[in-house]
Amino acid sequence: MDQRIVQNIYHLFKLEDRVAIVTGAGNGIGKATARMMAGLGAIVIACDIEEDSVTATVDEILAEGLKAQAYDCDITKPEQIRELIKQVLEKYGTIDILVNNGATLGGGKKVEEVDEEEFDRLIKVNLKGVYNFIAAVLPTMRAQKYGKIVSVSSVAALAGDFTDIHYSAAKGGVIAMSKTLARELALEKINVNVVAPGLTNTRMAHEWEFGPALERFYRIGEPEDVAAAICFLASEAAGYFSGQVISPNGGEYML
Ligand SMILES: NC(=O)c1ccc[n+]([C@@H]2O[C@H](COP(=O)([O-])OP(=O)(O)OC[C@H]3O[C@@H](n4cnc5c(N)ncnc54)[C@H](O)[C@@H]3O)[C@@H](O)[C@H]2O)c1
Repeated sequence: MDQRIVQNIYHLFKLEDRVAIVTGAGNGIGKATARMMAGLGAIVIACDIEEDSVTATVDEILAEGLKAQAYDCDITKPEQIRELIKQVLEKYGTIDILVNNGATLGGGKKVEEVDEEEFDRLIKVNLKGVYNFIAAVLPTMRAQKYGKIVSVSSVAALAGDFTDIHYSAAKGGVIAMSKTLARELALEKINVNVVAPGLTNTRMAHEWEFGPALERFYRIGEPEDVAAAICFLASEAAGYFSGQVISPNGGEYML
């Protein structure tokens, strides 16, 4: 390929030596994002509550001669997040990218099955978990006047869903929170954006009863389809994007 083309692509999309935290990196979209970011040159801090899964993700990255480190970290536990950040800063001195991907499933619950405890359980992981990580990395990003925050929402927040009001509410909260934060940080060179995927071929989708039926209407995405959008928003190619929601969804929902 013409070297000028290679250089142009490189300058737009490289994540070389960027320190990138990816939550929920043990499976699905988070795993694909961790691998893709490492492939673009990032030092990936892969975290998950599933220690074996996240170790496997990092082993795959290291086997390709790329850079990553695994952390067993629960996004609902601010003290675990603070400890992770302390260790990352001691070792690498910076955090450039935060991908808030880790989340849990509603389980296909009708409204009458979502009691207060169940509502709180999901908000705690899928909304407050995102807040916890953002609050913990912001002092570093503010001090260095650089940062890319990409949070994973869902088409469920944009178009509604068939069940799981609490899942949609949490994912809608991620969008609203990101837009406000984008305004607050607009002059500090910290970009805050959201990827809202449609149905994607991960175990989360397979645990959802309506998933397979929808294949009649549009192509179900692969984790890499979503990871590519996340990598774009974390790159300099998206330097003027902030407070935006992009939705890789194969035509499931049009903004
Ligand atoms: N798969 C889909 O169809 C779809 C559609 C729209 C949005 N999403 C969103 O994409 C993201 C990734 O989901 P996925 O489909 O890859 O699911 P997945 O279940 O394959 O992966 C989610 C990961 O998050 C981790 N996780 C869960 N709770 C955590 C916690 N408290 N702390 C740290 N990690 C935790 C899990 O262990 C898992 O590895 C989620 O935010 C999900 O809501 C998925």
